[in-house]
Amino acid sequence: MCGIVGYIGGKRAVDFLLDGLTKLEYRGYDSAGIAANCGENIFIEKSVGRLDSLKEKLKNRLPAGTVGIGHTRWATHGRPSDLNAHPHTDCHGNFVVVHNGIIENYMPLKEELIARGHKFISETDTEVVAHLLEEVYTGDFVGAVREVLNKIEGSYSLVFMSKMHPDVLLCAKQENPLVVGLGKGENFIASDIPAIIAHTRDTFILNDGEIAIVKKDSVQILNRQGGLVDKKIFHVSWNAEAAEKGGYEHFMLKEINEQPKAVRDTMSKRIAKDGASIILDELNWDKNFLNSINKIYIVACGTAYHAGLVGKFYIEKLVRKLVEVDLASEYRYRDPIVDDKTLVIVISQSGETLDTLAALKESKRLGAKTLAITNVVGSSMAREAENVIHTWAGPEIAVASTKAYTTQLILMFMLALYMAQVAETISGDEIKRLISLLKKIPAQISETLSDVEPIKTFARQYGFNEDVFYIGRSLDYCVALEGALKLKEISYIHAEAYASGELKHGTLALIVEGVPVIALATQKSVYDKTLSNIKEVKARDAIVIGIAAANDIELEKYLDHVIFVPETDELLIPLLTVVPLQLLAYYAAITRGCDVDKPRNLAKSVTVE
Ligand code: G6P
Repeated sequence: MCGIVGYIGGKRAVDFLLDGLTKLEYRGYDSAGIAANCGENIFIEKSVGRLDSLKEKLKNRLPAGTVGIGHTRWATHGRPSDLNAHPHTDCHGNFVVVHNGIIENYMPLKEELIARGHKFISETDTEVVAHLLEEVYTGDFVGAVREVLNKIEGSYSLVFMSKMHPDVLLCAKQENPLVVGLGKGENFIASDIPAIIAHTRDTFILNDGEIAIVKKDSVQILNRQGGLVDKKIFHVSWNAEAAEKGGYEHFMLKEINEQPKAVRDTMSKRIAKDGASIILDELNWDKNFLNSINKIYIVACGTAYHAGLVGKFYIEKLVRKLVEVDLASEYRYRDPIVDDKTLVIVISQSGETLDTLAALKESKRLGAKTLAITNVVGSSMAREAENVIHTWAGPEIAVASTKAYTTQLILMFMLALYMAQVAETISGDEIKRLISLLKKIPAQISETLSDVEPIKTFARQYGFNEDVFYIGRSLDYCVALEGALKLKEISYIHAEAYASGELKHGTLALIVEGVPVIALATQKSVYDKTLSNIKEVKARDAIVIGIAAANDIELEKYLDHVIFVPETDELLIPLLTVVPLQLLAYYAAITRGCDVDKPRNLAKSVTVE
């Protein structure tokens, strides 16, 4: 998500901080800030927007301090602004903190701290950490940080600086990356290796639960219990470009592998502690409101449109309300039947896609209630819609969307569950059952990601075919559409997805010997019918690769290759079946030597018609 840098040594800290943050710019951010310990006080400067705006503010007043921290922020809690930018401090400016990740229990902590007289100036979850530190500090900096870490829940990489302890920087890691770069008479801290490799290639890569005590001439690592860790030095051999991709060959592969975390970040704070309900503070809808809505439109483009198709299933199944899904470029020009009893949901990773934004504006003009689901806080759609729910996928850099899609599915599922809970359309027990399955999804995505060898082999075998077909029924069809889009986008193979039942109405004419067909067969309610369709293509000598749930003992009897994904409810399985399809597209593109992250003719954010 955001970027972190830290410096302690003999040189002016701000020079490394600004240079390090520049190296992290590729990750995307909306504001930046630095802090340097200048003896009497800690100098802080922050600015919304690009690093250049921060540099402009620092012109002719660069702080001389030799200890400092810096941050580029990708907004989650609170819009992009000078005040919400990091670093954050306690009430007296004694403690300064930068943070990546999400403090899940920040709200109750913040309320307690306010009740005890703390003054907050930002909307962020991070600021509670600085105030907590102020609250528990009695002279022992490391002890106080350990106490704070015991109080916070969630994911983080944190760096702490204190006016009272100018000779040390402390940092802690839980699920967000953090490295300490080892220099001579100076040491460096960064959330990602690109920030430091110009200065050192010897690093300590922190593990979850570890705390680093970083001084000018020494680095000590403590474990969760406070014991010293005998850490091995990791020597970075990557070049600068590979380092940006975290050692992965492409951003797309990195982002595919980030999905377990992206999905977990997006869901965890929104599930009640007892696992019995969904919390969507962003909405505040009641039964009367939902009863007043007689039609729901989901409007989006590209991959987000495919997430909308899955969302339709979720809402219709769990809430029993009619949902229409429309391409934004069609919706906006076809005089849609929309009024004040219509709810229009727009889905967009960037929040800037012109067609989707125009559809949102048109819906508002027609009197509809509007909700935006987007990954970018402060984006045009987030500002325009009446309600917003954010996916917390972090910046997505590859043009082909992967982690944005899975987090959109998670939010659509949670939205449908929330509506079902408010409208009382399904029982409390069913909600609990679905939530318990939902919580397993991040680990199940990891499991799916761990078995890539067969997918690489298929990609090598079939990567040079000119046509590939994807088939499935029900939700499998929605995922087939996304799988085909991924393949088209990055490998330039002609790929088509068909609802299996439609094959016999035309497409079957194209199925001949040797044509690869990817058949998804996870939907229990239509399993037999799906199997018949698979036999139809098999009988025409197509090469069929099946995608099935782990408990499926049938499919393998008919197919040469089956990729299994872990078992879950059929509503949630798209979150798993899409993963091998993303990987298949990726490795097919590699086989064909395509530019995976920047496919020809395509752009990440389409802000023109
Ligand atoms: C472009 C991107 C796609 C994306 C679509 C919608 O075409 O290449 O990956 O799905 O725009 O983008 P949005 O930001 O609105 O989700």
